[in-house]
Amino acid sequence: MDEALLREYQPSDFEALYRIDQACYPPGIAYTRRMLRWFLSQPGRICLVAERRGEPVGFLVAVCEGTVGHIVTIDVLERYRRRGLGTRLLGEAERRMVAAGVRTVELETATSNHAAIAFWTKHGYRTRGVLRGYYSDGQDAYWMHKTLVTRAGT
Ligand SMILES: CC(C)(COP(=O)(O)OP(=O)(O)OC[C@H]1O[C@@H](n2cnc3c(N)ncnc32)[C@H](O)[C@@H]1OP(=O)(O)O)[C@@H](O)C(=O)NCCC(=O)NCCS
Repeated sequence: MDEALLREYQPSDFEALYRIDQACYPPGIAYTRRMLRWFLSQPGRICLVAERRGEPVGFLVAVCEGTVGHIVTIDVLERYRRRGLGTRLLGEAERRMVAAGVRTVELETATSNHAAIAFWTKHGYRTRGVLRGYYSDGQDAYWMHKTLVTRAGT
């Protein structure tokens, strides 16, 4: 496939990102427009968009707060998966988090989401605990984290 381009989020992307999120997650886990808007309005927010032929095909939202970064969501449309796009989005987000002073990255993922668990594990994320009934449909989540390596190597 053509190489996808990674770029900054622009407000005109909102509806496309909302639709991608709805396509990537089941009801009860996908964000409402209101929740997605709220995350995008947070200080310290990172939002990267993967675009192919002018159309968003994936994105990542993270929020940095001091030394802690939180990955809110990473979404790649099904037909573009397993081509390294998620890895590129995550790599760029982690670089930006390091630059912002983040040392630890946290996220939640459904205990039933085997693809995501494999993805996070491959990228060095480890389970810290189980959040019972975390999602609005009652599903449990793994609370995962990773310590980022800074330029000083610590
Ligand atoms: C998780 C997600 C973002 C991965 O995106 P992607 O572009 O397919 O990821 P990559 O191609 O960079 O995959 C990197 C590695 O992750 C692992 N991985 C990714 N998807 C996998 C799957 N379905 N099964 C097993 N391992 C998987 C593999 O080790 C893969 O490397 P490989 O293809 O060389 O074997 C994508 O599956 C997605 O959008 N899922 C729906 C939304 C979601 O669940 N997000 C994460 C929840 S917090």
